[in-house]
Amino acid sequence: MDLPIVNSTLVQVASTYGTPVYVYSADKIRRQYQSLHDYLNWPSLKILYAMKANYNPTVLSLLKNLGSWIDAVSPGDVLLAKRIGFKTKEILYTANNITSDEMKAVHSEGVMFNIGSLSELERYGQFFPGEEICLRFNPDIVAGAHHKIQTGGSLTKFGILITDFDQVKKVIERYNLKVVGLHKHTGSGIKDADNFMAAVENILTLAKPENFPNLKFIDFGGGFAVPYQPGEEAIDYKSFGTCLTKRFRSFCDSYGKELALYFEPGKYMLAESGILLVRINTLKNNRNRLIAGTDSGFPQLIRPVFYDAYHHITNLSNIDGQAELYDVCGNICETGDNFATQRKLPELREGDLLAIHNAGAYCYAMGGVYNLRPMPPEILVDGSHVSCIRKGLSSLELIEQILKESI
Ligand code: LLP
Repeated sequence: MDLPIVNSTLVQVASTYGTPVYVYSADKIRRQYQSLHDYLNWPSLKILYAMKANYNPTVLSLLKNLGSWIDAVSPGDVLLAKRIGFKTKEILYTANNITSDEMKAVHSEGVMFNIGSLSELERYGQFFPGEEICLRFNPDIVAGAHHKIQTGGSLTKFGILITDFDQVKKVIERYNLKVVGLHKHTGSGIKDADNFMAAVENILTLAKPENFPNLKFIDFGGGFAVPYQPGEEAIDYKSFGTCLTKRFRSFCDSYGKELALYFEPGKYMLAESGILLVRINTLKNNRNRLIAGTDSGFPQLIRPVFYDAYHHITNLSNIDGQAELYDVCGNICETGDNFATQRKLPELREGDLLAIHNAGAYCYAMGGVYNLRPMPPEILVDGSHVSCIRKGLSSLELIEQILKESI
């Protein structure tokens, strides 16, 4: 599987900054952003980057300069996006299970709310009657790469059921709310374009002028899959884009107005741009089970443990070595702390440098300091320019921070 950054640069980054270290390709991020504009040919297309995938400030600035808007899910997301320079109208706030205090605090920042429950809609109406809002509906389609990242259907907490429309209508009328946007998000890592389109259809069916006469945009969420395994088929985004924009055109014709089209990709924008570089430090042969221990662990890349996700691994130090089966493990005191189980890899030796692929989305962002191992630095490669875009803490700095916060 191709890496977004050449091997020699990765080796150089590891020797300059040490391991573990995250490395991102600016060029790959730009290409992913641009590709969506190529595939989804719509005059008022807006990409609202799901900043939960990777909130590094330099990454956010890069995307802002490309013209991206923001899908924010917490007060922290909103505050950071605003500090980076995103305007309030460029941020859509899609929170889950928020308190009234959070609602008021975020509202004072001026961003539009995307509301996904009747309870929150009722409260929002009471606090802010007459305002413009977006409504998040549950598309009632179950899709996504793992059951923990599927957001449609009645088993999830996300969105208002389409069948609850009559109740929605009553609340909207009671508080004179103006619904200017409709939203759905079906899941993450959707590989089946038909599933995506079925969810789109369910939302469009609801988006009639008699139900919602004031619409300005429809937001079909994120969820675009990218390949994680060698040879894995991705959606044919070109034909998907053609099909979707054609359907949206016919919808707008019947609605009587050309609406803006929003998407909220996170994984698609960032996953493939990033690599986690780790080094093998301990090899063990347990009755013919080869166990390779690295200097990172699941708090720095949790997806294999959390979602049984496959992350491809390249042994940068021994590309042509004799292949063997390995368990590639982390340095955390937990049995499940594996990046790969029984993975065929060119011979691994102590000191070898491994590149764990697709570490740009939901890796650093889902990170933590379990076992008191600090998060590693993040490096951006932009053409021939290599820069540290977030420094890592040393163990001493981490425990000093903890002690300071505890007193
Ligand atoms: N919009 C909403 C409302 C979402 O809930 C999400 C993801 C996105 C957009 C972006 O979805 P994406 O394009 O990244 O698939 N940590 C998991 C993914 C969780 C996604 C949560 N919501 C993973 O590593 O696979």
